[in-house]
Amino acid sequence: MCGIVGVVSSTPCKTRLIDGLERLEYRGYDSAGVAILQPGVSGEIAKSVGAPRVLREQMVTLESETLENGTVGIGHTRWATHGGVTDKNAHPHQVGRITLVHNGVIENYVELKALLAEKHSESAGSIPHVFSSQTDSEVLSAFLNYLVSEEGFDMDTALQSLPSHIHGTYGLVVIDSEKPEEIWVARSGSPMIIGLGDESNYVASDALALNPYTENFIYLDEGEFAMLAPKSFQVFDAEGNAISKRVEKLPYVSENDGHNGYSSFMAKEIAEQPAVIGRLIRAHLSPSGLKDGSELVALRQKMLGAENIHIIACGTSFNAGLVAKYYFEKYLNIPTSVEIASEFRYRDVAIPPKTVFICVSQSGETADTLAALRKANEAGYQATISLCNVATSSMVRESQGSLMLQAGVEVGVASTKAFTTQLTAFLLLAFALSECEATKKLLLESLFRLPADCESVLNISDEIKDRAAPLFQESQSCLFLGRGEQAPIALEGALKLKELSYIHAEAYAAGELKHGPLALIDDVIPVVINAPGGALTEKLAANVEEVNARGGRFLVFSAPGVDVHSDNQVDIKMPELSLVTAAITYAIPLQMLSYHVTVLRGQNVDKPRNLAKSVTVE
Ligand code: AGP
Repeated sequence: MCGIVGVVSSTPCKTRLIDGLERLEYRGYDSAGVAILQPGVSGEIAKSVGAPRVLREQMVTLESETLENGTVGIGHTRWATHGGVTDKNAHPHQVGRITLVHNGVIENYVELKALLAEKHSESAGSIPHVFSSQTDSEVLSAFLNYLVSEEGFDMDTALQSLPSHIHGTYGLVVIDSEKPEEIWVARSGSPMIIGLGDESNYVASDALALNPYTENFIYLDEGEFAMLAPKSFQVFDAEGNAISKRVEKLPYVSENDGHNGYSSFMAKEIAEQPAVIGRLIRAHLSPSGLKDGSELVALRQKMLGAENIHIIACGTSFNAGLVAKYYFEKYLNIPTSVEIASEFRYRDVAIPPKTVFICVSQSGETADTLAALRKANEAGYQATISLCNVATSSMVRESQGSLMLQAGVEVGVASTKAFTTQLTAFLLLAFALSECEATKKLLLESLFRLPADCESVLNISDEIKDRAAPLFQESQSCLFLGRGEQAPIALEGALKLKELSYIHAEAYAAGELKHGPLALIDDVIPVVINAPGGALTEKLAANVEEVNARGGRFLVFSAPGVDVHSDNQVDIKMPELSLVTAAITYAIPLQMLSYHVTVLRGQNVDKPRNLAKSVTVE
């Protein structure tokens, strides 16, 4: 997935383009590029490998009149899928009249390329395009150019016909050199949002990029496309009919933009957890129970009588689903299955009657999870529900019910506050659906003390930095073990350490050790364990003994009074915490561990290599 921005204005657009790309860096930061025009005068393209900041610096050195003062522009920050990280593969891609930026994957680009070569060989005098990049996007540009130049299509007919030629996904913005005072945008699979200004109109992959300039947005739906000019715009449906769309207001919140004094977005987002979890709980619960206006009231209606729950997600959100299985089967006795979206979307799924589908996503745009939701909407589930952090996202708009995480914008690629609010949301859902007063009382008490519990955990950050992180400075691999709800938390801890520090971290349910992973144990590989106490502590202690017997070395986060002894360990004592919410509170030290290890190893905590925040391609 990539980030796209477009501006059509009567005043210079360079700064708004680059600022917008920087706000979309969470979508990819391999390379960046812009095309800027002074309609009817000139046009120029600038590209560079690296984050948009690199492009900004390069453009200063170019001292280009057009780049500085051009009023129409499109920009792109790339996450490489087709072709390496090079200037040539950076967007925009220009072919003939067409200059375009693209987010998505054109699966049949090889066939399209062959079709273009064939068409050119058939028509005398036409000069076939010589491709300079390895990208599918340049082929898309060449194909659009073929439609408007050789087939005489207008841009609207060309864009309307694309779905019949293209296999794959696209969010694209195009400039036709014959109509330089306007830009065109089309959506098929990747989110595209139009921003309406006074003297300017905008388009981007996420409203976040445009919010400082406008609060008025139009969300394109699947198959729709649009023409934008400085003072006018027109949206078309997939059949090419001109349509009017609802303008949605999105108030601009400047605090979302910065680190707020923290050294990184991840540090800020870890620290925000007590506050955002508190906000989420107070939005739905009062000391006497569920608030009337809570979204949970409607969700409870939709889930009434549910006899099964299918949870579908990817990455960290999938790990949250794994914890929810423990909650739903323990507090509601509802059989719950959890599945990775990229598998669910392509397999034959058995859906018993009265089954509810829940998709979990921070961004609400993850391609595999969105496709799973679309499949579920057609598959006869009792209800499809999304747990999501972005109210304007495709998943929220396409699911039959939703529960917002209210975590605020999460920019760090490694998800932290979205994960703990996902778990909190699942506990709130269990509370809302439970018919048992004892369960409701237990959950209410535990939820109301949760923000303070999380706050107390943040206080051990320095101890983790000083005593735990150095254990991993030179590590190549690491093992996380957990029992019960802590088994998925071990998975999440391993995912965080993997994606940030690039240490090959694996996680297992501790009882699985003897069935293979024990072979990995030596006096080098660190083994991380959460020991919150509770019924499984003895079993966990036995697993520690197994590792201890092989000379293993441990990092243990244990509750007061819980002692899982081994000869070679760093034991970090956790505060006194509720066992009911231990999956949430014991996730935080693993987030902090990954953060401090990554800082110690000198890597970028907000933008790990090869990853991006929202995966809008499959
Ligand atoms: C988590 O730190 C990763 N960024 C990644 O695994 C993420 O959880 C996954 O891509 C799912 O994203 P979503 O929650 O936005 O759907």
